[in-house]
Amino acid sequence: MAITIKSNEQFALMRRAGRITAQALVLVREAVKPGVTTRDLDTIAYNYIKSQGAIPSFKGYGGQMRGIPRYPATICASVNAVIVHGIPSDVPLQEGDLLSIDCGAIYRGYHGDAAISLAVGGKASPLVQRLLDGGEEALHIGVGKAQAGNRIGVISNAIQQYVEGLGFRVVHDYGGHGIGTAMHEDPHVPNEGYPTDGIVLRLGMAIAIEPMLSAGSPDVEVAADGWAVIIKDRALSSHFEHTVAITENGPEIMTLP
Ligand code: MF3
Ligand code: CO
Repeated sequence: MAITIKSNEQFALMRRAGRITAQALVLVREAVKPGVTTRDLDTIAYNYIKSQGAIPSFKGYGGQMRGIPRYPATICASVNAVIVHGIPSDVPLQEGDLLSIDCGAIYRGYHGDAAISLAVGGKASPLVQRLLDGGEEALHIGVGKAQAGNRIGVISNAIQQYVEGLGFRVVHDYGGHGIGTAMHEDPHVPNEGYPTDGIVLRLGMAIAIEPMLSAGSPDVEVAADGWAVIIKDRALSSHFEHTVAITENGPEIMTLP
């Protein structure tokens, strides 16, 4: 879908959608511990979003064009080498797993989209901790570049330079996106590229920035379920995402709890 320019009233609704999304992630994070299943986490997010008068945006998403089932859940729960779009399951989480949770909500027609990664049980291996800290900082750096007048590529390049400087890779083929009345609007927001790439950001735009880090290969494959995206060499991976508005005061994160 094409790029849309939002009014302050529309941004206000996106802020509401974003807060509901972020708050759902807070509740899910609090419930994560060894033995819990990602299906349990999905139920928590679903119930919270509904209780706020919002709609889980992932549930029923897509499928039409690719001949695969529509996305069946409220969250994506991606464990270890699964980098994004993991479908919640009945497999219990284990101590030390690197879990990424992605969530989206629609409030009065406007979307919020956000993701966090964490170590199950709180005990992260040194590598997991570096992927978590690196992913969070990559997102922070990307958000800082979401300024009117910058090209999309300024964000992409800053994320790529930082992530590669840590000795990690950003995965190919997946990235962020414009967001508003649809979850996915133009432009695409890659996690790699040159500062001269892409359109110039303008006031009133909103984008989801979502660095995806691999400790191994930057190449991915899609699982047999048609959704889960897995690092080709099965290395560990992390994913962080915020919905960000381009305002006259600079970048505003819409997905804060
Ligand atoms: N944050 C993800 C995205 O941008 C979530 C999509 S999951 C889906 O693209 F199931 F809805 F596709
Ligand atoms: Co997204």
